Amino acid sequence: MIFQYSLLLIFCGFAALSVSTETCGKDQQVGTSCIMKLPEKYNDKSNDIKWAHSSSYAVIKRRDKKMKSNTPGLTMEEDGSLRFQSVSLKDTGTYTYTVVSSDGTEIGKDKVEIKVYEKVPKPTVKINCTADGNATLTCDVGNSKDPSLTVSWYEDGKLIQNEKNPQVFLSSTQVQENKPYSCETRNPVSRVKSENVTVSCEGPGLTKLFGFNFWILVGILSGGSALLLLLICVFIICVCRICLRCKKHQQDPDRPLGGNQRTPIPQENPMPCSLSPQTPPQTLSQENLPPIPRLRNKQHQTKRNPEPILTNRMRHLIFH
Ligand SMILES: *[C@@H]1O[C@H](CO)[C@@H](O)[C@H](O)[C@H]1NC(C)=O
Ligand SMILES: *[C@@H]1O[C@H](CO)[C@@H](O)[C@H](O)[C@H]1NC(C)=O
Ligand SMILES: *[C@@H]1O[C@H](CO)[C@@H](O)[C@H](O)[C@H]1NC(C)=O
Repeated sequence: MIFQYSLLLIFCGFAALSVSTETCGKDQQVGTSCIMKLPEKYNDKSNDIKWAHSSSYAVIKRRDKKMKSNTPGLTMEEDGSLRFQSVSLKDTGTYTYTVVSSDGTEIGKDKVEIKVYEKVPKPTVKINCTADGNATLTCDVGNSKDPSLTVSWYEDGKLIQNEKNPQVFLSSTQVQENKPYSCETRNPVSRVKSENVTVSCEGPGLTKLFGFNFWILVGILSGGSALLLLLICVFIICVCRICLRCKKHQQDPDRPLGGNQRTPIPQENPMPCSLSPQTPPQTLSQENLPPIPRLRNKQHQTKRNPEPILTNRMRHLIFH
């Protein structure tokens, strides 16, 4: 029996503890529970009491010791105080109590105010660099529209600005000091600090505006020039091959014709042909003449060549 009673006592103790709530402050955070106290002199249980909210139809009253409430979450305590189970923004306002004694006379009437605030959200620091390296930091609180919010700015942990304005301006020299910045948002019931950020505005033009395109451009240019180089190489090799064939064909028919024609034609060939791996070394050494590198010159001169057989052969080779 004793054991059961003590269990009951413990249970009641816990229940009492969990029910006991702090007195409502003038500023109260959304979601908390609190009790709006009725002055002690009116605590007599035989009094009739009425609480009425100014900005809603909420009415909580006790008459002949029976409690009535038209608003869920709002109840009256034994001593006549008003209990908020969980305050919300719409509970903000003035509550008027009226106390009537058992003999029917009004013995007290007054107003109690409460303001309910959201818990401030954790802010984030947004950085906006100008082209010349200045920065504007904005303390971003998401979509919170709490008009009571104030913003404090900290540089390296030290307060540098404390106003409603959520922005702070940093000159480029301040930016270059690489110090951590954070902001703190505050309202009457809560305060919360952002993470530290270090501001970096180095070359915002290059990294942010042109960075991506710049490297693509470099890629295209280098790719393009590599392709061009390849084409030039292929061109040179082709030219050299053609030269070589020309030469071989020229040398053979030239011999019976005599030395006069031989001399000018090889003159044109040595340089381009020397690039080709198929260049016969004896031709160069035999002729041993200064180089004339251009194919076009050669073609023009070949066309101008008085020997019609050679020109035809050349044409055949080139266009084949
Ligand atoms: C950054 O600054 C520019 C110029 O003042 C402005 O147009 C832009 O909206 C700003 N961006 C942010 C995120 O504040
Ligand atoms: C931000 O940096 C300051 C100074 O370095 C430091 O005192 C503070 O604890 C830091 N805050 C956070 C949230 O890391
Ligand atoms: C950057 O800051 C310097 C010094 O504070 C100021 O003279 C300049 O006009 C600022 N530039 C911009 C674009 O705000």
